[in-house]
Amino acid sequence: MSVVKINAITVPKDKQERFEERFRGRAGAVESTPGFEWFELLRPLEGTDQYLVYTRWSSQEAYEAWQSSQDFDRAHDGGGDTLASAAPHSAHVWTYEVLEYAGPKANQEKQV
Ligand code: HEM
Repeated sequence: MSVVKINAITVPKDKQERFEERFRGRAGAVESTPGFEWFELLRPLEGTDQYLVYTRWSSQEAYEAWQSSQDFDRAHDGGGDTLASAAPHSAHVWTYEVLEYAGPKANQEKQV
């Protein structure tokens, strides 16, 4: 089963625009990484002020390989820390395992 790694980041209001801009210009290397399955940047609208960087991987090993790779370092060069809050607890990585998933029926039929 796939593994979901979510990076939950608190970004101060005055840095949000810059934060989103950085993601618009992101490296785009993760898409070519072995074991990578999905990425989404989620902007908070209600109930929280944390941005979520949602990533899904074929295995824990695939995620770890990417995280310790030069691609990860390059993707975060000069961006990461300065854009998150100065508080050390501003970013947390959560790990989930995918138990079930579904998409709209129409899409599933198209894939067959
Ligand atoms: C303090 C921790 C982190 C911060 C503040 C942070 C912030 C950022 C920012 C601002 C970018 C846009 C590129 C740039 O300007 O650097 C980025 C890229 C990205 N981050 Fe992080 N990040 C952190 C750690 C992580 C972790 C642990 C994950 C794993 C879920 C992750 C997943 C990603 C992905 C998938 C991209 C896009 C890479 C690509 O396009 O190849 N980040 N991150």
